[in-house]
Amino acid sequence: MDGGENQGDWWRAGVLYQVYPRSFADSDGDGIGDLQGVIDHLDHLDSLGIDGIWLSPCHRSPQADFGYDVADYCDVDPEYGTLETLDTLIAEAGRRGIRILLDLVPNHTSEQHPWFRAALTGRDDPHRDRYVWADPGPEGGPPNNWVSTFGGSAWTLDPGSGQYYLHNFLPGQPDLNWWNEDVRTAFEDILRFWWDRGVAGFRIDVCNMLVKDAGLRDNPPATAEDPWVMRAFGQRWVYNGNRPETHQILARWRELADRYDPPRLLLGETNVEDLDQLVSYFGSGTDELHLGFNFPMLGAPFDASALRAVVEGTEARMPAGAWPVWTGSNHDVSRMATRWAGGDQSRIRLALLLVLTLRGTAVLYQGDEIGLTDGVLARGDLLDPVGIRFYPSYPGRDPERTPMPWHAGPGAGFTPPGVVPWLPLGAPAEVNVADQDGDPDSVLTLVRDLIALRRSTPDLALGASETLPTPDGAWAWRRGTGTLVALNLSDRSVEVGGVEGRVALGTDRARDGEPVAGALRLGPWEGAVVGSSPPGPGLATVTGSEGLGTGEER
Ligand code: NOJ
Repeated sequence: MDGGENQGDWWRAGVLYQVYPRSFADSDGDGIGDLQGVIDHLDHLDSLGIDGIWLSPCHRSPQADFGYDVADYCDVDPEYGTLETLDTLIAEAGRRGIRILLDLVPNHTSEQHPWFRAALTGRDDPHRDRYVWADPGPEGGPPNNWVSTFGGSAWTLDPGSGQYYLHNFLPGQPDLNWWNEDVRTAFEDILRFWWDRGVAGFRIDVCNMLVKDAGLRDNPPATAEDPWVMRAFGQRWVYNGNRPETHQILARWRELADRYDPPRLLLGETNVEDLDQLVSYFGSGTDELHLGFNFPMLGAPFDASALRAVVEGTEARMPAGAWPVWTGSNHDVSRMATRWAGGDQSRIRLALLLVLTLRGTAVLYQGDEIGLTDGVLARGDLLDPVGIRFYPSYPGRDPERTPMPWHAGPGAGFTPPGVVPWLPLGAPAEVNVADQDGDPDSVLTLVRDLIALRRSTPDLALGASETLPTPDGAWAWRRGTGTLVALNLSDRSVEVGGVEGRVALGTDRARDGEPVAGALRLGPWEGAVVGSSPPGPGLATVTGSEGLGTGEER
């Protein structure tokens, strides 16, 4: 894979950081994070060396899905601040060279959005067609078999009109009708509203779902080959999303984004399990999304061959000009420190090395930089409607949304002492920013140093990537002209042979600067970036370590 075209795009070499504002920092003592709290902690974000923030929704919302149910796309919810606070955040971040991406939620609105309130007044209301309505099915009941991602039928009856409306998520999140021209025009206005205000781009919520089958056909039953989520719901999502017409909308937004200088960034929540489907959202490589999240990566176990298959499979399918994005955590999945690492420090460090050194844009979720694990919550603590519905088989998304721990004292620096935070502080007391700050062996220092290395090493920033043969359990790739990244995702020591250079950064910091002449030995769950003198012909030669690794080449 080459280094990619348009190397001037700020986000290619960049690291983005997701702020979930409700859980980041509470500046006004109501137990809920807010935008002033983000402003107050910009120096921390600056100290990481990030290039941009993806801010989860802070728009006006009844918070049925904690902001992913928008009642006004062009205003800030009073819980989080005001438009002026957001302007200040954009300006203060900008002063530090950090750009702000907002979250755009175009698949659905809140039931409290004025368009839906108007649509409910009757079939003749001009806003009615902005949503997806249908008469009951032939035997009464929902018009088709579509199920909501959050459980149950995707249709709710509006008793006033006798028709059902579609909601791929909660009943309080009615799906918009993307066949309707007024919806398209309104969203173009929303994009421009924010882009003109200095917002650098959008993370686009379920951007693959927008257009629904015009005939509202039933989804076919799931088969054994389908991803677990479709099997769990008993149907393959064919007609309630991923329709070809969605590409036209993204292409139109790309055209608008590219009119700005610098072009505004479109980072899609491409929530698909299939890599071919994922790369389709890059269009020809330059005419749809700039970036699309890789859900197969999030779903893969922390295993060298599984992760490698996702990375190589993605790279092999990407059209020229497109650029991958790698992440291990977000507000909807168990944190990588738990899901991949089970709280183990070596694995946490290795996971961060992985995400920050692959060829592509890296996205961290708040707390990743201190190795934050999922909160452990009781049934009575749950607030996520999905967790409440599916507990105990699935606890929902509250565990990965517990407040950011800034220090070990009462309130964790998230909220003033004595205030009850909106979700319990789930973190172990020793995992917090203050205690890790300045500690050369901490996860926080590792992350800062990895990002600094990425910035100062052109190979890591934009260099091409080539996988090297490694023993089982290990994974190594060369970036650019000679920077090597090697990971041991196993309980045994391994040896990667033919490596010449010096350890630029190891997950075991004691190894930084260590010369490597011929073979890099890695202990269990250890990884390193090795900077080189120019690569010699034998760089990719690999041997297993005697009696420890398998010695098998792939
Ligand atoms: C994806 C978001 O990340 C998630 O939090 C939300 O519940 C759904 N989309 C619906 O907007």
